[in-house]
Amino acid sequence: MSARKAMNRRRFMSRTAAAVAGLSMTASMRARGANEKVVLGLIGAGGRGKSVARGFAGLDNVEFKYVCEVNDLRGHDFAKEMKDRQGYAPQRALDMREVFDDKDVDAVLVMTPEHWHALASIRALQAGKDVYVEKCPTLTVDEGRKMIQAVRKYKRVLQVGTQNRSAPYGHSAWEYIKSGKLGKVVEVKCYNTLNGGPWSPKPDQPVPKGLDWDRWLGPAPYVPYNPGRHAMAPSGRGWQQHWDYCGGKLADDGSHVLDLARLAIGDPGHPKSVLCAGGRIAYPDERETPDVQSIIYDYGDFVMTMDCTDCIPYNKKSSTAVRKGDRFPYWPQNATRIEIYGTERMMYLGRHGGGWQVMVQDAKVLDFEYGYDPNPLHRRNFIECIRSRKDPNGVVEQGHLSACLVHLANLSLRVGKKQLHFDAQREVFTNSDQANAMLKRPGRKHYRIPDEV
Ligand SMILES: NC(=O)c1ccc[n+]([C@@H]2O[C@H](COP(=O)([O-])OP(=O)(O)OC[C@H]3O[C@@H](n4cnc5c(N)ncnc54)[C@H](O)[C@@H]3O)[C@@H](O)[C@H]2O)c1
Repeated sequence: MSARKAMNRRRFMSRTAAAVAGLSMTASMRARGANEKVVLGLIGAGGRGKSVARGFAGLDNVEFKYVCEVNDLRGHDFAKEMKDRQGYAPQRALDMREVFDDKDVDAVLVMTPEHWHALASIRALQAGKDVYVEKCPTLTVDEGRKMIQAVRKYKRVLQVGTQNRSAPYGHSAWEYIKSGKLGKVVEVKCYNTLNGGPWSPKPDQPVPKGLDWDRWLGPAPYVPYNPGRHAMAPSGRGWQQHWDYCGGKLADDGSHVLDLARLAIGDPGHPKSVLCAGGRIAYPDERETPDVQSIIYDYGDFVMTMDCTDCIPYNKKSSTAVRKGDRFPYWPQNATRIEIYGTERMMYLGRHGGGWQVMVQDAKVLDFEYGYDPNPLHRRNFIECIRSRKDPNGVVEQGHLSACLVHLANLSLRVGKKQLHFDAQREVFTNSDQANAMLKRPGRKHYRIPDEV
């Protein structure tokens, strides 16, 4: 063990002793020194959880006390990796409540599939933990409201994993637009035109050894184990295809684009109405979530659209060179771009550090700013806010409004491609009882979000 790792371990142990003496909860309620230690618990060590945890582990005075995973093998392997990184092994947990009950833990990273995001976050907030929760932060509109209530009631820091909120170029895009240089913004076109493939149903199977399937399902209805529902990697064709666990491609990458678009135009509230066409058009198979969606959000004084696909191989996410801030994407075939049309100029804005360019006719560029991958900044911002007790960049209220664009569009599609009118104040539709019935989900026994958080 290196001298640094040995020192980390000693510091961790002395903190544990302080917690036993009842001191740590007090520490977590006040602003701390800029470099005071932060103890984290990871909930869900899948592809994203591991990558985010590795990023946090590289920050000064940030340590992991837990790896909580319902897939025993995954949890074991990642705890071992973290041992090599930080000099001592995080504890293993199957039940996230064990992590929430531990007074040493300051904050948790909720890196599960979407159907667990709200329940896990709210339980953590109730236990006094700060939370970093991946996008899409909720599966329903009601979950978002409850998450906001819990953050404010327990005075916790919750960072939604919409990392573009920490991208300086996203904020400068808004400054530019706010200055009026585009003229009046009349239309915002969002694109999430990504590739996909067919989904093949598979027979139910015995639960794989080491997987707690009941806990994986959590709030979702109980179904026998099926690899076509469960597996995400390597095919990417598992839980994202079922409404019980995810809002589909729109909730996945699409939610980032919608959130960045909202940021760049000054974070409008809810749209007045939504209309979504689409379905399983490229691959008319038995999955539930669509592979093509074309959406219109009517905000009254401007219109926002979103084209979201899971079947287009020739449009691509931004390259590594773009993400490093060295160049701009080739916009027409950039899969995750936003086009903001003003009455005088238009702006291209890219996800993944795509930056922005303002153009007029003949592709003449008038102004621009390069971008770069905002993930590291977003992680750093979370840790800073844990120490300062300030609201983070991915603040819950905006996370909720952006997530609602996903939920509203999916509900429009699911009730028959109907234009739905939304009462922003009450967060209900005014013309569809069927859609209103899906603003909330009941949650399985033992996995319900209470009415009063
Ligand atoms: N912000 C981004 O850019 C970004 C990128 C990729 C993924 N994501 C998001 O991250 C989340 C995870 O995605 P992924 O690709 O890693 O999925 P994944 O299925 O590979 O991993 C999720 C992990 O959570 C575990 N899990 C499920 N229920 C659990 C529970 N109750 N307790 C503990 N562990 C549990 C699973 O066993 C699995 O290992 C998703 O919401 C996804 O949308 C965000």
